[in-house]
Amino acid sequence: MTLEISGLNAGYDGTPILRDVSFNVGDGEIVGIVGRNGVGKTTLLKTIMGLLDPESGSIQYNGEELTGKAANEHARRSIGYVPQGRDVFPTLTVRENLLVGETVGGDDETRYEQVYDYFPILEERAGQDAGTLSGGQQQMLAIARALVGGPDLLLVDEPSEGVQPSIVQSITEDLEEINDEFGTTILFVEQNLSVIQGLADRCYAIDRGTIVDEITGDAVSDQENLEEYLVV
Ligand SMILES: Nc1ncnc2c1ncn2[C@@H]1O[C@H](COP(=O)(O)OP(=O)(O)O)[C@@H](O)[C@H]1O
Ligand SMILES: [Mg+2]
Repeated sequence: MTLEISGLNAGYDGTPILRDVSFNVGDGEIVGIVGRNGVGKTTLLKTIMGLLDPESGSIQYNGEELTGKAANEHARRSIGYVPQGRDVFPTLTVRENLLVGETVGGDDETRYEQVYDYFPILEERAGQDAGTLSGGQQQMLAIARALVGGPDLLLVDEPSEGVQPSIVQSITEDLEEINDEFGTTILFVEQNLSVIQGLADRCYAIDRGTIVDEITGDAVSDQENLEEYLVV
């Protein structure tokens, strides 16, 4: 898996949001996108996912150009997406939500059983409507739904949002293990410092639609360095 984004410009109805965004994600990496509310983090993931057409620029995935290809096309099917706010189907059961992920995923190999190993609570609640789950359990379901398609790259948008602190830690560990066991590359968006520090190999800081810094190595554990891009 390689992801190379260069000179990306995207927005809504002619209003520019992302401006000249360029960065790379390498195979097996966990890369964080950090930045305050409204800087364009979700817009970036939506554009990578093909849910928003960029004005210009290039998104190369395994050397193949993704721009101009729809979200459901083959090249994008090995990219899993956990949207901000989770978007699970509240009136479908947990199992039905996972079946949706299996259908969307393009890989022959599915990980239906494995996701229950990671999230045993989902197996316990398999027949229950997703809307009855707690915020943290819904987040697990959204991650599991993305995983059953067997993605090589997982995009995760603010996994800690609306999740109680005790569960945030466990979701962070689950993502780390998924990366470790399956080699799934992870590109995630976060504003929660402990999640960023617990998960990221390195980070890009984004401000007003532009990448303003890359934070690597020991600098990821430097709280002040990261807070600069998170605290108003
Ligand atoms: N569907 C949309 N239509 C118009 N503007 C939008 C839409 N979604 C987001 N925006 C605007 O784009 C900017 C970036 O939003 P977003 O990518 O959601 O930021 P973040 O995820 O970093 O909080 C914000 O100014 C937001 O109001
Ligand atoms: Mg967002």
